[in-house]
Amino acid sequence: MNKPTRPMMSAWALIFCGLTTIAPAGAAGQAAVSMAVHANAPGPKIDRHIFGQFAEHLGRGIYGGVWVGTGSPIPNTDGYRNDVLAALKALHVPVIRWPGGCFADDYHWRDGIGPRAQRPVRVNTHWGGVLEPDSFGTNEFLDFAELVGADPYVTGNVGSGSPQEMADWAEYITSDSQSTFAQLRRANGRAKPWRLPFFGIGNEAWGCGGNMRPEYYADLFRRYATFVRDHAPEGIELVASGAHDDDYHWTDVLMARAGDLIDALSLHYYTIPTGNWKHKGAAYGFGEDQWASTLKAASRIDEFITRHSAIMDKYDPQKRVALFVDEWGAWYDQEPGSHPGFLYQQNSLRDAMVAAISLNIFERHADRVRMANIAQMINVLQAMILTRQAKMVLTPTYYVFRMYVPFQDATYLPVRIDTPSYRYGTTALPAVDATAARDSSGTIHLALVNIDPHHGATVSVQIEGFNAHSASGTVLTADAMDAHNTFEHPNAIAPARFDGVRKGARLVFRLPPKSVAVVAVH
Ligand code: AHR
Repeated sequence: MNKPTRPMMSAWALIFCGLTTIAPAGAAGQAAVSMAVHANAPGPKIDRHIFGQFAEHLGRGIYGGVWVGTGSPIPNTDGYRNDVLAALKALHVPVIRWPGGCFADDYHWRDGIGPRAQRPVRVNTHWGGVLEPDSFGTNEFLDFAELVGADPYVTGNVGSGSPQEMADWAEYITSDSQSTFAQLRRANGRAKPWRLPFFGIGNEAWGCGGNMRPEYYADLFRRYATFVRDHAPEGIELVASGAHDDDYHWTDVLMARAGDLIDALSLHYYTIPTGNWKHKGAAYGFGEDQWASTLKAASRIDEFITRHSAIMDKYDPQKRVALFVDEWGAWYDQEPGSHPGFLYQQNSLRDAMVAAISLNIFERHADRVRMANIAQMINVLQAMILTRQAKMVLTPTYYVFRMYVPFQDATYLPVRIDTPSYRYGTTALPAVDATAARDSSGTIHLALVNIDPHHGATVSVQIEGFNAHSASGTVLTADAMDAHNTFEHPNAIAPARFDGVRKGARLVFRLPPKSVAVVAVH
């Protein structure tokens, strides 16, 4: 195995930081990092929806994770787990995407309404071939989103559904008229329409959503989008099924052929430590090689967003069409012994790094990226929450999302950073990454990420256009790269208090190795 080497500024970091100086090494293995925040040159709003979630009918994401049913001994409110509801409320979840994923293009919404005992039971063909009881359907999802305080984002069925079916669904949800579908909703217990700000016209049309060519899907998008009508004055933003990774051709064809009707185009990207879908790598018990390869893979989303955005700029220089990264996160080999096809995986300090790096990248692209949905919310892939019967565990990823709450709808402030590199083998990445934002009350928040697992960093921050006295917040770190919470030890890793001190005109932070910190500046 390769040995870690002491970091020096890499060419990549020079471009990234826009600086030509090398930071001197600090005391006792601490890297010296210098950072300037341009509070006097504010950027765009960081849309709160980039801190969004994705919840699919997959494994125990919905059943057991969110929904236990009204008769369950697990404490619940109308069938929703109380512990999960409380944990999600603390995250200020801005949006939840549902019901898929691949499941969406197999889902027929009428299966999931009316008395639960009478709903049909289907086979979930994508995810383990298990029975789908349809007890969590449209009413249950939209009521759940309301309870949590999140905007609902529903993905419709293009692959095996019809435009009529999609149009009826939008009417059932949003019409306040006396139409048959509005009356059906009332008969099912919901008098007033729900808000439906986002509607996806299919999912992964290039793959599980129908294995289409972009030319064909662009035409289908035009057709289906015509019939998903706004029955409410708020309007529905229509999301086109976009590319994955570096499929720039897909984006080009869609923008050229349907850009006039698209409100948002999606992008999917999963971080895989080995780059090999058959052997992705373990969620814990990994070596530094996979720490480095995972964080390098996570950073690649910056390049994908940049290049997809450049194509969108060609057709839409005003940036009317948003880019929604509506599936992202780390995807590992599933937990040994867990149900095949359920995509259950543990979540460690490395995932906290993936989350923080990714959120920082989305913030830097806030002018175009106006939603992102981590895959997935509970018990699936890079989850916020893991449950086992009545027990619940909050993951390191959960804590990062909670720490980043002040960035929701805040104004992005440009950051210039002079950082050494973290190097492992041929991998070289900036050791420290940071973003800054000002919230509506005028408070400035900093997010600081040190991916180097061996060296702390002394970060000295100059805030231009703001008189900073002190800074306080929380830090998430642990001794082990794969530190994680289990049902037996649910508090093995959790945020702790973290302060910066004023030195002259600067604020100084001592970031531990492998840590994420978020502070408010006073
Ligand atoms: O998140 C798991 C799956 O990954 C989704 O169902 C699909 O859209 C993607 O390929």
